[in-house]
Amino acid sequence: MPKITVEDTVTGKTETFKIGYGGNLRQAAEARGINLYKGMNEYLNCHGMGSCGTCLIEIAPLENVDGHSIIEKLHKIGDNQKLGCRTKVYGDITIKAKLVD
Ligand code: FES
Repeated sequence: MPKITVEDTVTGKTETFKIGYGGNLRQAAEARGINLYKGMNEYLNCHGMGSCGTCLIEIAPLENVDGHSIIEKLHKIGDNQKLGCRTKVYGDITIKAKLVD
C-alpha cells in the first residue's frame, strides 16, 4: 500500500497515511480526517467534481500518480501539481496541501 506524507503549508504539520493502490487521494485523506483545503474551502469546495480547483496540491514524485486529466489541464495547474480529487496514487508520495486561499 502506498504511503502518503501530507505537509500542511499553513501549520507546518506533517501527517502520514496509507492508501490502496490506485486509490483516490482526496477520498482517502477525507476518510482519515485529513483536510487538503485552506480556510473556508474546506466547506466551499466542489466535493470532488474537479470544478473549483481548491484541492490543489504539490506532489513528489509525480511518477507515482496518474497524469494530468483534461480537467487539470483546463485549470492550467503546474507540472508538479495535481488536484487532490483527480489524483490516483500508485506509489509513495509527499504532498504539500492547502495551497489555495
Ligand atoms: S474538490 Fe473541487 S476541484 Fe477538487
